[in-house]
Amino acid sequence: MPSNVIVGLQWGDEGKGKITDLLSKNSDYVIRYQGGNNSGHSIHIKNHRFILHLIPSGVIYSHIKCIVGPGVVVDPKSFIKEIKDLELMDIDTSKVFLAKRAHVTMPYHRLLDQYKEETLGYKSIGTTHRGIGPTYEDKTARIGIRLLDFLNIKDFYQKLKYNIDFKNLIITKVYKREPLIFKSIYEEYVEYAKIISNRIIDSVYEIHNAFHNGKKILFEGAQAILLDINYGTYPYVTTSSPSTGGVCIGAGVPPNFLGNFIGVAKAYCTRVGFGPFPTEIQNNINDVIRKKGNEYGATTKRSRRCGWLDLMALKYSCTINGINYLIITKLDVLSELETIKVCVEYKWNGRIIKYFPANIEKDIQSVYIDFPGWKKDISHINEYENLPENCKKYIKFIEDYLNLEILLISVGSERNKNIIKNKYSFFKIFS
Ligand code: GDP
Ligand code: IMO
Ligand code: MG
Repeated sequence: MPSNVIVGLQWGDEGKGKITDLLSKNSDYVIRYQGGNNSGHSIHIKNHRFILHLIPSGVIYSHIKCIVGPGVVVDPKSFIKEIKDLELMDIDTSKVFLAKRAHVTMPYHRLLDQYKEETLGYKSIGTTHRGIGPTYEDKTARIGIRLLDFLNIKDFYQKLKYNIDFKNLIITKVYKREPLIFKSIYEEYVEYAKIISNRIIDSVYEIHNAFHNGKKILFEGAQAILLDINYGTYPYVTTSSPSTGGVCIGAGVPPNFLGNFIGVAKAYCTRVGFGPFPTEIQNNINDVIRKKGNEYGATTKRSRRCGWLDLMALKYSCTINGINYLIITKLDVLSELETIKVCVEYKWNGRIIKYFPANIEKDIQSVYIDFPGWKKDISHINEYENLPENCKKYIKFIEDYLNLEILLISVGSERNKNIIKNKYSFFKIFS
């Protein structure tokens, strides 16, 4: 049985947490394969709101095994806090595991992330300051510490010593800051190692055995393709591969394990941090959408920049990811608007561009089609036929443009606020 993959198709925060929770009900495994605690995936069930950073969004169901895969970078301090917070909310975390090969985010990664951003000034990326970039840098530089080093404290001691000596050169000589003290970091992290060691597993065999035993596996992407290190709006990107292709690298599975590629997009666009955003709204509608959509970062609480749906970018995202099922979220947020714009092509230097350029610049202009709003609350609707006509026209236009049928439309943050549009496919994949 092919596994399901859920990915974000814009600049993150599309509602992947809500959708993973919803679609994982019948899964045996939910696996994160990239990113780190830069993610904030929200799940809203009745009066409870959960925000997950490292732990897969399947954790709410006690029968699901959740694996933080080898391609993820793990901040143990943040992970332990997340476990505690979930347990305080009566969530069973006994089936949450960490892959041995995952790299560890250390305090110096967080500091270097922050110092670099401060030094770059107006050229900064607007990172989450969670140390994600520096952790992946060390991984590629082949000096990183992996979770398996937590199982052999002698190895951990040596690797940490080497890293702190090396980082202190950068911290003192480049950034002119106080050096880090090895002993206190070592002692703190040895304690974390003790707390999490029983969760550290060889995920490769666990996942392969599960697959060959017919278990249902769902891979949960973090961030999104426009933040992808290879295909995003470089350099304003994150440092991992949030694409469907990233699953093979980040979870250690071959492509033929994967079957259903489910892309999640908002009915408009948002972006946190700096970087090009062709459809960013430059008037008060930006604030209207932010307020109605509660567009504030789940991790950093920063205001999200809001813009119109960018179909040029969305088509590019669906192409790279090989999306065969599309989910549109937050359609309810547009309900008050008089007019809704959709970008269908770009203009640059007076020329029309019908593709998403590799060097997308801030001065690219979006060419829009206007749709009349429906001006009715739709958050209680759960059958497609009952949506207002103007709303259906908007949805139909998206499907025609992308040549993809929409599987599900989300009309509220709560678990049950959904319209299953393609019931046949939905039940085929998720029952
Ligand atoms: P993720 O990072 O992709 O998981 O998304 P976030 O959780 O960071 O941001 C999505 C936000 O929108 C969260 O606050 C969700 O509770 C909320 N949300 C998800 N789907 C909907 C929806 O259909 N309508 C509304 N109004 N809110 C939604
Ligand atoms: P989820 O999984 C939205 C953005 C940051 C910054 C850039 C690089 O919740 O969708 P980083 O700390 O990764 O080096 O920052 O990427 N970013 C996100 N934006 N949602 C996320 O995750 C993000 N994770 C990183 O704001 O612009
Ligand atoms: Mg988020």
